[in-house]
Amino acid sequence: MAEETAEIKVGDKSIELPLITGTENETAINIGKLRAESGLITLDPGYKNTGATQSAITFLDGEKGILRHRGYSIEELAENSTFLEVAYLLIYGELPTPAEYETFTKDITHHTLVHEDFKKILDGFPASSHPMGVLSSLVTAMTAFYPESLDPNRSKEAVYMSIVRILAKMPTFAAWAFKNQMGHPVVYPKNNLDYCSNFLHMMFNLPSQDYDVDPVVSAALNKLLILHADHEQNCSTSTVRIVGSSQASLYVSLSAGINALWGPLHGGANQAVIEMLENIKADGGDTQKWMDKAKDKNDPFRLMGFGHRVYKNFDPRAKIIKKAADDVLEKLGVVDPVLDIAKGLEEVALKDPYFVERNLYPNVDFYSGIIYRALGIPTEMFTVMFALGRLPGWIAQWKEMRENNEPIGRPRQVYVGETERPYVDMSKR
Ligand code: CMC
Repeated sequence: MAEETAEIKVGDKSIELPLITGTENETAINIGKLRAESGLITLDPGYKNTGATQSAITFLDGEKGILRHRGYSIEELAENSTFLEVAYLLIYGELPTPAEYETFTKDITHHTLVHEDFKKILDGFPASSHPMGVLSSLVTAMTAFYPESLDPNRSKEAVYMSIVRILAKMPTFAAWAFKNQMGHPVVYPKNNLDYCSNFLHMMFNLPSQDYDVDPVVSAALNKLLILHADHEQNCSTSTVRIVGSSQASLYVSLSAGINALWGPLHGGANQAVIEMLENIKADGGDTQKWMDKAKDKNDPFRLMGFGHRVYKNFDPRAKIIKKAADDVLEKLGVVDPVLDIAKGLEEVALKDPYFVERNLYPNVDFYSGIIYRALGIPTEMFTVMFALGRLPGWIAQWKEMRENNEPIGRPRQVYVGETERPYVDMSKR
């Protein structure tokens, strides 16, 4: 069958470009030879309509509200699996067999402890440090303790060890970043606990008071982490891939991803949502007033937790999280007035023509903060929780990019600055 093509006409010249179709029939124009044949580049600020790669990890249909990892729906995964099972699926492409799962979890559990010298690095951070900054620094510091990880092309076994180590140590780093902020002594991992329970233990155990992990809390955390595990080529994942494309190591690529996630338009939105809801509450709870602010183009305020670059119908993760928030609050007997404000805001927004016309629906971050609060996680840790969840996705995307030997990422630009002009001597300026 002849290759399907698209034709671009520039003046009298016609250029034929190949079409690439994915397994879910998404079609792209491969513009690889456009510049060579016409001198033209494409311009797409924010990469709103640019495919950067061909990936087999996550399928997302923003119009239909579909999210699948390696073919499995997010709904089924969130309902039935463990976070480490989803991590294995994302990274290795298939759900693990019982034997594979046992080896993978055993290897991860075995590496939860971090070198004592990490404590010295942690001690250098003042208590005022945001835990996201601490987390990304500790992940970069992994390169110092495991220099063999610097070569991303080392053996398969070496890459496996790098992956296992970071999956194992991230919860320890995350919990320690929180302890640093609290001015409390760090808590060491306990390897008889599962992944989520161990994290909760390191977060909440105190020398003065033993913390017993509540299975309701641990199960809710498992679900939240799964819901964040991957989301194809978003800002932080693209950052991980682009940093890794220079053949930088896994740990620094992940650290870059953590920093990209931090911003309030991306993973930082979950912290921003709760801060916004608190502000609305403190201001008397008039949701309409804040809706009007969000719609006012002269006001920089945006309704945090609303809107998404790719979901133009609804965010399937938000649906699951909303229900999970109701369940968790009921099971734990938590009454949170901020939840009522969130529900009120959602109700008003879903009927408001401004939000309807622009397809602005609640996203994953709108309700996740409410669950984190109910679980006792402080607001500044919310984005760290997102990073913990996104870790397997970043790893999977980095590994895929390396295995496909993708070229270094290097976009072009349309230059709009001054044209050439002579240098002006300082005395004449
Ligand atoms: N509140 C008010 N107006 C909004 C909002 C909002 N939250 N989001 C988008 N708009 C308006 C925007 O002003 C624009 O209006 P107009 O067409 O009149 O200029 C229109 O909707 C399209 O917005 P955009 O900024 O062009 O869309 P985008 O795809 O570039 O941005 C977004 C997507 C998520 C950055 C944006 O919706 C936003 O800032 N939301 C709030 C932050 C947030 O919740 N982020 C978390 C995203 S989900 C977690 C993750 O995966 O990172």
